[in-house]
Amino acid sequence: MSKQVVHSIDVILKKRDGRELSDVEIRAFVQGVVREEVSPARIAAWLMAVFQRGMSARELAALTDAMRGSGEVFDATGLGKFTVDKHSTGGVGDKTSLLIAPIVAAAGLAVPMISGRSLGHTGGTLDKMETIPGFRTQLSMREFYDVIADCGACMIGQTPTLVPADRILYALRDHTGTVESPNLITASIMSKKLAEDLRGLVLDVKVGSGAFMPTYQASRELAELMVKTGEAAGCRTVALLTGMDEPLGRFAGNWVEVWECVDVLRGQAHPLSEDMVSLSLTLSGWMIFLGGLAGSADEGRVIAARVLQDGSAWRVWLRMVELQGGDATVFETPSSHHEPGVTRVLCASRSGYLAGMDCKEVGWAVQRLGAGREVPGGPVSADAGIEMHAKVGDFVAAGAPLITLFADREQQLEEPERMLRGTLRFSDEAVEQVELVREILAR
Ligand code: URA
Repeated sequence: MSKQVVHSIDVILKKRDGRELSDVEIRAFVQGVVREEVSPARIAAWLMAVFQRGMSARELAALTDAMRGSGEVFDATGLGKFTVDKHSTGGVGDKTSLLIAPIVAAAGLAVPMISGRSLGHTGGTLDKMETIPGFRTQLSMREFYDVIADCGACMIGQTPTLVPADRILYALRDHTGTVESPNLITASIMSKKLAEDLRGLVLDVKVGSGAFMPTYQASRELAELMVKTGEAAGCRTVALLTGMDEPLGRFAGNWVEVWECVDVLRGQAHPLSEDMVSLSLTLSGWMIFLGGLAGSADEGRVIAARVLQDGSAWRVWLRMVELQGGDATVFETPSSHHEPGVTRVLCASRSGYLAGMDCKEVGWAVQRLGAGREVPGGPVSADAGIEMHAKVGDFVAAGAPLITLFADREQQLEEPERMLRGTLRFSDEAVEQVELVREILAR
């Protein structure tokens, strides 16, 4: 049988006119993109056509699969364990990955975790892990495999050969106003996750003022698309819609978030970490359930809490850090490894209940303190960040500390302080507490 010849211009015209693309057409187009046979102008036109016309579930599954297969993929066959990961759409102080990887590995599953860097107002797992002296996040697929085979988990960055199609498409989306397409976001995220050879995936889709998507409905639609796409690819996928209306836990930044997780793993959790620990256990519980080690997500949560409490997760963490070249002696006194150039405490100007904030504004304040990037590829400060002294719903007396700001230089404090002061809201009335997990989308 002769091979069908696909012309990229025909793929663009078909999508522009709202017709459904075949799997063959989608695969050929993605291959042409990676081989640099399709010009950036044509890719841009196609992206806009997809943005405007959308995609059917079948087209989205085909696009995700073609992108996943556009480069090297991880092969977990020899591990002999169920592979499972968690993906978050990004938040402020969202450090759950640092707890989840060792917890789920300690429970007996394999966690091949390929994470990202800070983006916009949100923090990045890689930037946090790289504050551990010597810790390597750029590993080959072979090294990645070996670390997982040894301790059950490994946390690395995207390799240059993993899903190269996403790198090209993402860069052009940024230039063509097509970043916000739910189909393109889904294909981007899911192609990278499925390249980890996962059999289970738990998605933490954020909702609220600090979320990536603008409305609850938009977050929900994205979650649904990702669940359907994961399931269509044979990966058990669950999405939890969770609140991002205030920073998760006690700290937001880079080293400070590692410090917070080390305290939790060693059984010395700070009371302000409670929401973060609870969410980490819930997400771990779902992963353990998907992996068949528990009869329900609640039962999985009990297992997660046990391996955290009995020190097994801490041992996995130490082993993983050692195998990735990190110096674990910094965990002995994490506070003394935190050396910000300047510190400023923001105090309450009145008594009242902390009623809320624009969490995105808090994230941007953390970025401007130096914990996030000014420009793509730019540096981040290990020590910059914030410490929250109160959570939404807490009563604070006038003059009590609310937030401590950390930065490398004095000049970096002014604007973030103004932003934080401007966004915190107070109330004379007690504030209703809302559950962090708002909704669960499962097959
Ligand atoms: N994260 C990704 O990896 N891709 C997107 O398109 C959006 C968020």
